[in-house]
Amino acid sequence: MWFSLLALTLHSATALVAAAQLALPNPPWLPPDLSEGAKKSNESVPNPQWSTLLGNALYFYEAQRSGELPSTKRVSWRNASTLDDGKSAHVDLSGGYYDAGDFSKQTLPLAFTLMSVCWGATDFGKGYDMANQTAYLDDMLRWGLDWLIQAHPSDSVLYVLVGNKDIENTYWGGDRTIPSPRPVYQINDTAPGTDVAAQTAAAFAACSNLYASRSFDSSSFSTPATLQDKSYADTLLTHAQQLYKFAVNASGGRKVYQKSVPEVAASYASTEYGDDLAIAALFLAWATNDAALYQEAEGYYDKYKLQEDNRLFNWDTKTPGLPVLFSQIAKSNPNVGGNLGKWQDAAEAYFDSIVNNKDSPAFMTTGGLVYFEGNSDDNSINPALNLAMLLRRYSTLTTSSGKKSKYLDFSQKQLDYVLGDNPMSMPYVVGVNPNSPAKPHSALAHGGNDVGEIDTNPEKNTYTLYGAVVGGPDRWDRYFDIRSDWPQAEIALDYNAPLLTLAAMHTLADSKDPFYTTLQAGEYDKVKPDGLPCDAAFPQGCKGPALSKGGKIAMAVVIVVASLIVLGLSAYYIFLLIRNAKEGTV
Ligand SMILES: *[C@@H]1O[C@H](CO)[C@@H](O)[C@H](O)[C@H]1NC(C)=O
Ligand SMILES: *[C@@H]1O[C@H](CO)[C@@H](O)[C@H](O)[C@H]1NC(C)=O
Ligand SMILES: *[C@@H]1O[C@H](CO)[C@@H](O)[C@H](O)[C@H]1NC(C)=O
Ligand SMILES: *[C@@H]1O[C@H](CO)[C@@H](O)[C@H](O)[C@H]1NC(C)=O
Ligand SMILES: *[C@@H]1O[C@H](CO)[C@@H](O)[C@H](O)[C@H]1NC(C)=O
Repeated sequence: MWFSLLALTLHSATALVAAAQLALPNPPWLPPDLSEGAKKSNESVPNPQWSTLLGNALYFYEAQRSGELPSTKRVSWRNASTLDDGKSAHVDLSGGYYDAGDFSKQTLPLAFTLMSVCWGATDFGKGYDMANQTAYLDDMLRWGLDWLIQAHPSDSVLYVLVGNKDIENTYWGGDRTIPSPRPVYQINDTAPGTDVAAQTAAAFAACSNLYASRSFDSSSFSTPATLQDKSYADTLLTHAQQLYKFAVNASGGRKVYQKSVPEVAASYASTEYGDDLAIAALFLAWATNDAALYQEAEGYYDKYKLQEDNRLFNWDTKTPGLPVLFSQIAKSNPNVGGNLGKWQDAAEAYFDSIVNNKDSPAFMTTGGLVYFEGNSDDNSINPALNLAMLLRRYSTLTTSSGKKSKYLDFSQKQLDYVLGDNPMSMPYVVGVNPNSPAKPHSALAHGGNDVGEIDTNPEKNTYTLYGAVVGGPDRWDRYFDIRSDWPQAEIALDYNAPLLTLAAMHTLADSKDPFYTTLQAGEYDKVKPDGLPCDAAFPQGCKGPALSKGGKIAMAVVIVVASLIVLGLSAYYIFLLIRNAKEGTV
């Protein structure tokens, strides 16, 4: 009798262990030297270059970690930081991820990132398995999801920002000396934020689906074989349902969150919340097999006239992803989903407008990047990667094979551009090739501690931020690689999200190398543009007089260099004059 009890206990213990976080590889996977990215592979499946890219893209998130760091940490130059976050409000908000190049923690883009990565891993999860990266995916997701759980201490309270942007902007330095205490901001029943509550619900629901191994159409998609944790999936689902209810029915009404927390407006003001409600309802419909929720999502799509605001997929606007998800659910589970044909038409109307360049919300740069006026100016790579990701995912659902090949072709061209097939010969991912951006806007990786000397002291980054996607080139396909130029050079959690999904997909199905393996050292240096960028950080590059401190330094450098050139030329001219005079030829 006690034998079977013991066996049972042992069995449950094993089940518990098996259900916990996956063991990380020992020795750990580490990014190879960037020179490895300039070598052709044998082009088999899984392609080692794609699986390395997936590993790099995940590794970036580890470098962004906040809080106490575990003994398994791989980024040797990172230290524990901001351990007191939340203390003033009697809530533990340590942990989680720093949002971008500085040290704030932002719930809206984090939740969007986790939703995007979980959705992608649900579709192309096998790619993580084939790259031996599933344990790192698990590690990356839990680091974010566990923090979101901490940030959601009761049904109708969600912390949405740690660290005030104004304070943040004055601190540029390492992780040991981040000023504290840091302010924290919440939404609640009387001061709600429909968008961020719904987006966070969507992240919890999408990731619950992943941990429960609920895949869509199983012939083309699959979750990672080893990533299953029923009890974690249940926990995530509970948070999703509470937050969805809070988003829908807060007594303060429905509103964008900067109305309740004006401090978020400086960096992540949201334009609307109908798309967030719809995507939350959809991921929940699929998590719970609930047709009523699918219909609620359709209701939001109509009520908030989302089809009229179908521009780009990003942390702020999820609308172009909705018809794709509506279609995926309708196809996989007709009992939950509605009219598949209607949603295919909606998805294809949007994709066709872009790939056929007719009434497109975007234009194509000369170099071939899809560019969304007004959005791409602050980060041009992310909208293109998100579009490439949606096209890839939707390509199994097209109504004709002609559309399928057009979509795949467009997706491939955008990804090729991002990975180096562009006028700069630069893959816009740090540390994957000798032509990768060398000066990403990241205080952690820079190693300097004076924002006034952001470009010069030190001139080179102290640490390589492997796997980080940068903002990207301007509308003239130019990339300057200037650290203070945040629209081009900043890195961010949401920038990397679609790269994970695309790299997983290519690992699992593509034998061809990523484009950058053809790029040898020095190619960017040959085409590096002169002058200054023209963007929000360098208005003087366009003309305007306003100079930031960093801008003044950059400008001073340019003036000094230009003066030296003029001086040099003048001296040479005078020399010629004198010599010619001596020779009597003038
Ligand atoms: C590629 O294939 C060749 C010939 O089969 C082999 O010698 C070489 O080791 C392979 N290289 C890699 C990186 O796998
Ligand atoms: C994954 O691990 C297996 C077993 O150790 C190994 O044979 C394989 O080469 C690895 N694959 C990659 C892409 O690293
Ligand atoms: C972490 O601490 C070490 C040792 O003090 C320091 O050299 C390193 O720069 C720190 N890392 C960051 C990102 O500040
Ligand atoms: C609710 O949130 C608002 C906005 O952050 C805040 O001003 C208010 O103090 C919060 N209410 C409670 C009871 O904490
Ligand atoms: C919101 O409130 C309405 C009216 O009380 C209720 O019918 C609905 O179920 C609530 N929605 C959620 C998601 O709880």
